[in-house]
Amino acid sequence: MGEKINRIGLEAKASKKLAEDLNTLLASYQIFYMNVRGYHWNIRGDKFFELHLKFEELYNDLLIKVDEVAERILTLGHSPLHSFSEYLKESPVPERRNVSDGQEAVGQILEAFRIILPLQRKLLKASDDAGDEGTHALMSDYIRAQEKLVWMYSAYLGEAKN
Ligand SMILES: [Fe+2]
Repeated sequence: MGEKINRIGLEAKASKKLAEDLNTLLASYQIFYMNVRGYHWNIRGDKFFELHLKFEELYNDLLIKVDEVAERILTLGHSPLHSFSEYLKESPVPERRNVSDGQEAVGQILEAFRIILPLQRKLLKASDDAGDEGTHALMSDYIRAQEKLVWMYSAYLGEAKN
């Protein structure tokens, strides 16, 4: 009568649900990655050198996460989405084009984190409920580092502290 257990000892049904949410996260990271490459390329003005470099740091980090999230899905016994048509359909982060203003780009980065952070907190909770320490630790690392990034990007914009 027991729940079906997968090859890493997690409940199969819970793992499937986690993999689905991780695919949403993967799609979000892929779209966000391409958006940030766009900011890196198209940015203009007196903050060019500073932001061009910051955006490169960010997209390199996102690319690492794309691979980590995809491989976590495989570890859970499922398939990561791997086409941009699926990413566009699945990603709650919208595609951005032709942004050349630094303030606007940073504002859009903050908006993306406002979507991605709750998604990861949902995964943090679900992975905890499923006893999935691997996904839990990954989400925990992402959340902590990105919350700090949100503080820094907000400070750059001169936004209030809340
Ligand atoms: Fe470059």
